[in-house]
Amino acid sequence: MLTAGRVQAVEVELDRLTKRFGETAAVYGLSLSVGRGEFFTLLGPSGCGKTTTLRMVAGLVEPDEGRVLFDGRDVTRLPPWDRNLGMVFQNYALWPHMTVFDNVAFGLVERRVPRHEIRRRVGEVLEKVGLAGLEGRFPSQLSGGQQQRVALARALVVRPALLLLDEPFSNLDAKLRVQMRAELSRLQRELGITTLYVTHDQEEALVLSDRLAVLESGRLVQAGSPRDLYENPREVFVADFLGGANLLPGVVVRSGSGEVEIQVGPVRLAVPAEGEAAPGQPVWVSVRPEHLVPSAEEAGGLRGTVLSTDYLGWTLQAEVAVADGPRVQVRGLDPAVPLRPGQAVSLRIRPEKVRVFPRRG
Ligand SMILES: Nc1ncnc2c1ncn2[C@@H]1O[C@H](COP(=O)(O)OP(=O)(O)O)[C@@H](O)[C@H]1O
Ligand SMILES: [Mg+2]
Repeated sequence: MLTAGRVQAVEVELDRLTKRFGETAAVYGLSLSVGRGEFFTLLGPSGCGKTTTLRMVAGLVEPDEGRVLFDGRDVTRLPPWDRNLGMVFQNYALWPHMTVFDNVAFGLVERRVPRHEIRRRVGEVLEKVGLAGLEGRFPSQLSGGQQQRVALARALVVRPALLLLDEPFSNLDAKLRVQMRAELSRLQRELGITTLYVTHDQEEALVLSDRLAVLESGRLVQAGSPRDLYENPREVFVADFLGGANLLPGVVVRSGSGEVEIQVGPVRLAVPAEGEAAPGQPVWVSVRPEHLVPSAEEAGGLRGTVLSTDYLGWTLQAEVAVADGPRVQVRGLDPAVPLRPGQAVSLRIRPEKVRVFPRRG
């Protein structure tokens, strides 16, 4: 029962899923597993294959290769209605001619649940999503946030074993998005429902997920906890997409004994690293904006000029043109030097926070 709490959550496994549209593979050899009750996110830029993956899990798109398993059972050929799913999409897809009550009740009516039971369950779920009292409204009489709550209620009322959400909040304004995010997170934990969430918004993915997978061009790049991916990206793409790392071209000078020495412009950095790298090897040095520390111009740092600044309240962000180097983002609230356009600065790189990736060419 919904109020009594938890649903029969499933474990989901994707086994080398591939889907092609014509020549191009929208999803290629994608394998991952989502634990019982886990909140798992597929994150990546537009066109990377998130929706196609979700639709294969839902049974709305048939994979060319690979399997979808629920609790170890192969469901690849099962139609959506036999998969016990709840789905929420970006455009709420409510029936405009039906009231909130009827929209939410629809799945139960289809399943021939007795009338009094339907009334009780719809009441319960509307309470849960904060819509009690609005049963008689039509979708056109609701705000975007309320409509999306109806869509969520409609997905949850059938007590699915798996909840699938495809960019559900991207049509809402920023403040409402943050609020809905918190509500979804609370509901998901309360119900213990396995959740597969799709977004291109890295902040949303970091906030909501137990684990997430970063996709690029239909392939899995890296999966892990938000902290793991943010702190230990294994590829430039992840470092860049998650948190917008600065990428500085560098060259290996020396390596060994758990350290690699790298020349970045005029700066030499000793970075903790496993393994060996050949001297002369070109690398990308990935540094988060919060790990570049600006000071007045002096020796020892990357010299540059502030191009622009953005005051965000909780932090100050500046774009700095590094002399003979790229433009970088710098972040921090109380820099030792006033950050104003035109200001000359020296950027110290915090070496313990740096990640190094091979650079070709
Ligand atoms: N029905 C379709 N027919 C042809 N190409 C498609 C279809 N659906 C998706 N694609 C293509 O597959 C790729 C992945 O799309 P999609 O899964 O929607 O990505 P995302 O949700 O990450 O933005 C894109 O290049 C897209 O153009
Ligand atoms: Mg999509």
